Amino acid sequence: MTPNPADMAEILAWYADAGVDIALDDAPIDRFEQSKQAAAAKAVKSASSKAVARATGGGTAGGGQPTQRPSPPPSPTSPLGGGAAAAQMERAIPDAGVVERARELATGASDLAALKAVVESFDGCNLKFTARSTVFADGNPQARIMLIGEAPGRDEDEQGLPFVGRSGQLLDKMLAAIGLDRTKVYITNVLPWRPPGNRTPTSAETDICLPFVERHIELVAPDLLVFVGGSSAKTMLRTTTGIMSLRGKWQQVSIGGREIPAMPCLHPAYLLRTPNHKALAWRDLLAIQARLAELAAGDESEAT
Ligand code: URA
Repeated sequence: MTPNPADMAEILAWYADAGVDIALDDAPIDRFEQSKQAAAAKAVKSASSKAVARATGGGTAGGGQPTQRPSPPPSPTSPLGGGAAAAQMERAIPDAGVVERARELATGASDLAALKAVVESFDGCNLKFTARSTVFADGNPQARIMLIGEAPGRDEDEQGLPFVGRSGQLLDKMLAAIGLDRTKVYITNVLPWRPPGNRTPTSAETDICLPFVERHIELVAPDLLVFVGGSSAKTMLRTTTGIMSLRGKWQQVSIGGREIPAMPCLHPAYLLRTPNHKALAWRDLLAIQARLAELAAGDESEAT
């Protein structure tokens, strides 16, 4: 029975709330059917190896003819199905040179406009094929302070700008609390493309995009970096230490031959879910504000 439009709208809203808000293939994939086929193939395989063992009088190891391996069904955990999506998965597997290619392209970009053009035309990361936009940056590239988030979400993908959804609105409020806004900060993400359904990016995807964000930082040459959230902090600091241990402590990163102080802080999306940790975020904001004040004082004393 075909569901009526109201039921269909409700089902779609349910999917959207769960983060499933884009179609990755033309036709739906019946994962239940795939599991049934996989179970049936397993049963056939087990029956045929028992028959071979009986016929050869041996056990399962050694003796008989190798049994024909049934071809595996598509992985039930794969986010993509057949057809166009399978082609995307092919492209998703990075060849050994793709990170090197990204690095060469990034290094060759002599200014932000060139880097933006290079990122927009780069086809080596599968995330690009499911994203609507390449989200490059927002804010003031002359700013002293540069914020690095994880990856665009749905709103960012739609609008082509970082941190414009609910968590972005909270980020704006956090910045305002220490006298900053988007004319006084520059904002980008480790990944310029939204992972489908906001899934966690794979390490291959992150490795491919890292040369771009590093060159981005080098070209902006900020005095301070803020790593927004655990994923950004771990990637940029090349550590597995969790954000609860990293946050609130100034770190140092070496990019393009410069040492830049960097503050890891809690992600506003996390703070929306865990508001009682806003006090920790406030402490980190105050540390950033104090550091900016020191830099401004240094400028003044140099000028006099
Ligand atoms: N979360 C991020 O890390 N970056 C964005 O741009 C939006 C949400």
